[in-house]
Amino acid sequence: MLGARCLLRALRSCSSAPCPRHKPSAKLSVRDALGAQNTSGERVKVQGWIRSVRSQKEVLFLHINDGSSLESLQVVADSSFDSKELAFGSSVEVQGQLVKSPSKRQNVELKAEKIEVVGNCDAKAFPFKYKERHPLEYLRQYPHLRCRTNVLGSILRVRSEATAAIHSFFKPSSKVKVPEENFFNVPAFLTVSGQLHLEVMSGAFTQVFTFGPTFRAENSQSRRHLAEFYMVEAEISFVESLQDLMQVMERLFKTATMLVLSNCPEDIELCHRFIAPGQKDRLEHMLKNNFLIISYTEAVEILKQASQNFTFTPEWGVDLHTEHEKFLVKHCGNIPVFVVNYPLALKPFYMRDNEDGPQHTVAAVDLLVPGVGELFGGSLREERYHFLEQRLARSGLTEAYQWYLDLRRFGSVPHGGFGMGFERYLQCILGIDNIKDVIPFPRFTHSCLL
Ligand code: 4AD
Ligand code: MG
Repeated sequence: MLGARCLLRALRSCSSAPCPRHKPSAKLSVRDALGAQNTSGERVKVQGWIRSVRSQKEVLFLHINDGSSLESLQVVADSSFDSKELAFGSSVEVQGQLVKSPSKRQNVELKAEKIEVVGNCDAKAFPFKYKERHPLEYLRQYPHLRCRTNVLGSILRVRSEATAAIHSFFKPSSKVKVPEENFFNVPAFLTVSGQLHLEVMSGAFTQVFTFGPTFRAENSQSRRHLAEFYMVEAEISFVESLQDLMQVMERLFKTATMLVLSNCPEDIELCHRFIAPGQKDRLEHMLKNNFLIISYTEAVEILKQASQNFTFTPEWGVDLHTEHEKFLVKHCGNIPVFVVNYPLALKPFYMRDNEDGPQHTVAAVDLLVPGVGELFGGSLREERYHFLEQRLARSGLTEAYQWYLDLRRFGSVPHGGFGMGFERYLQCILGIDNIKDVIPFPRFTHSCLL
């Protein structure tokens, strides 16, 4: 019965299909329309939102944007099309001919034959005003609408390109992506890191990575903390030195950034020009120099000798604060710097013991970058059964982590890995001061607007 009804519906839609002689307009994205080679009057259909309206005596100019590019498509229409409904923010469908534009500002334009307003926009109530450049803080109040602005559009396109760039970095060399696990027949928690699960997988696949949402009850309203953020994590087996790990971290940063720069130059330029002047040069400086390496002990010495007065007095055995991280990066000439070998007492049980005497350290590494501070955190993992067993016992975790000890009982290998905060990465390449502006829906202490 159902099959017969479907068949009937299909037949009906066939009979109402347009006659092949009247070829329907090809639907194009704004990006494809702008890049079209054939501008000899091909009939096309474009859908999107009005970004500007300019009405002259005999012609009407509209700019239509659909999120596919920063640049909007110019629509040229006879003034008879003019109507109040064609307003900033309205959604429209325009059909017409794609032609070469006589103006130097754009290559192509759409000569409108039909303009349909799909959804009106009440300009008075709409929080964004035509031609106004609203500050990012203002836009943040409208998480449901801000993606319609040029600036958020650019940031989110870069975010999307960067996601693809990171996946492509890991893909070619047979690295295995581990899905974020989620089945709840036992008490389960949102993940603060996929590391321990990656370590399981690294017992069979020598290079694994994961890239997904991460949750932390950070009681922080800072410009670089979220309660939900995205983290790229990698784990590599048969790695014996921090040097090897640092090479992968530096390559990931540089390769992904070069790819993003070449895939969305206009979006990056918008951020660099209007939000973070000088950022283009700062980023180039980061890309063309080899990242530096200092030890935690050296870092503390540098901080102690600094003429700057810190809120938190630097001292060996105490964690570095943001103010310290920012000072260190400046001290290093604004080149990203790896800080290695942190005090054992500051770090989690899984980091590899350096067995180095009174100032006891572990093989941990953080990458500090200009403007942001810590971008990556990683370490060699303690692969030696007895060392790990003792560390777990000292923390009272032996029972809960039997499975983790098992990884060291059965074919253990030296290994290590790292995590990179994806939003901090975007902040770093775009020069965006507040982490809340590089994620579609920022969630942080006392705030979950959407
Ligand atoms: O340094 P973290 O805490 O490292 C780990 O979680 C390791 N288990 C990762 C690993 O080795 N697989 O976090 C890694 C990075 C930080 O350097 C920072 O960039 C980012 O994640 N991060 C945050 N980003 C935004 N909001 C927060 N609350 C963040 N906490 C960490
Ligand atoms: Mg860290």
